[in-house]
Amino acid sequence: MKIDFFHHSIGKEEKKSLIKTLGSKIISTGPVTKKFEETFAKYFKAKYCVGLSNWTSGGLILFKAFGINPGDEIITTPMSFVATSNVILHAGAKPIFVDVDDKTGNIDVDLIQSKINRKTKAIFVVHLYGQMCDVISLKRIAKKNKLLLFEDAAHCIEGKFKNIKPGQVSDAAIFSFYATKNITCGEGGAIVTNNKNIYDKLRRLRLHGINNNFSERYNKKFSHWDMDELGYKCNMSDIQASILLPQIKKIGLLHHKRQKIYEHYLKKLSKCKKISFFSKIVNSVHARHLMPVRVEARNRDIVIKELEKKGIKTTINYKSIHTLKYYKNTFKYKNKDFIKSYIIGNEVISLPLYPSLSLRKVDYVSKTLINILNKLT
Ligand SMILES: Cc1ncc(COP(=O)(O)O)c(C=O)c1O
Repeated sequence: MKIDFFHHSIGKEEKKSLIKTLGSKIISTGPVTKKFEETFAKYFKAKYCVGLSNWTSGGLILFKAFGINPGDEIITTPMSFVATSNVILHAGAKPIFVDVDDKTGNIDVDLIQSKINRKTKAIFVVHLYGQMCDVISLKRIAKKNKLLLFEDAAHCIEGKFKNIKPGQVSDAAIFSFYATKNITCGEGGAIVTNNKNIYDKLRRLRLHGINNNFSERYNKKFSHWDMDELGYKCNMSDIQASILLPQIKKIGLLHHKRQKIYEHYLKKLSKCKKISFFSKIVNSVHARHLMPVRVEARNRDIVIKELEKKGIKTTINYKSIHTLKYYKNTFKYKNKDFIKSYIIGNEVISLPLYPSLSLRKVDYVSKTLINILNKLT
């Protein structure tokens, strides 16, 4: 049996919507992007959304919009995709890693205060695997120390912490619509914020700092445009937005399927003592972006290779960022500096999880994984 690690949920509606856009004049940022932004903001009960070409460029313009400068420090987690800390480096700032909570893999909120100093400008958290961090405590720390609070919500469209969604208490949340994400257009991103001034800045910064974009000018009488500040080029196109819009309507349904698959895995795998799981915080909604399980570090890579031989694709989310060559060489980190993140990075395997995955295939993955582990000491 062949089992993919991920599979998008793009169907008939998305294809119809895309074809309609392709028949229109403005296939770059235009009315469909605007509609996407309004619909996505509404989903989060937020005032504003800015559509982008991907999450990473969102990070770049976010820091510019909020005035993060070289020499500033931003507190973040080492347990994430490299994009989270790479955008901090691109802003000229320094990522200050704080170790994670072993039970969830999210940043350990209790360790943050001791890392704050005069250079600290922001806390940038990641809602790992789709589970929101404790944004209430984070907001309290940010407020007390006059820091900005940003959320990497690349995994967490559906997540809630005590009924709070990403973007509701922080200064901004960034989303990714990369190919593996819960809703996708291949590549894409968005920032959600309630700050009008930042929203206006982000709209300019995604288009070179130009004050009047092409589609807005095109249908009006000729007018000059000017450039107010130095921006990037990372606007979402109507092509991307047209693929995303129908998926927003299906978020609830797709999430329900993910949750069912997660529960089935849990039922099947919890029999095996050699597998452990991350816990869910009470009173929260988990987006179930990924299906991470932990096995003994010495067996982890063997298990991945054996699963592959049986046709099952898996991946690692993530090796701790501080252990990656560039970060190790630049900042002289030792593995033990963020020991919990380091251990997770050596033990974790993400199993296939996507709405179209049948429970029969979940049975097969579970049985195969248990058989492999039973043969290992
Ligand atoms: C946690 C996290 N942050 C950031 C990103 C970067 O997203 P993008 O590829 O849209 O730039 C990803 C994408 O995989 C991610 O998983």
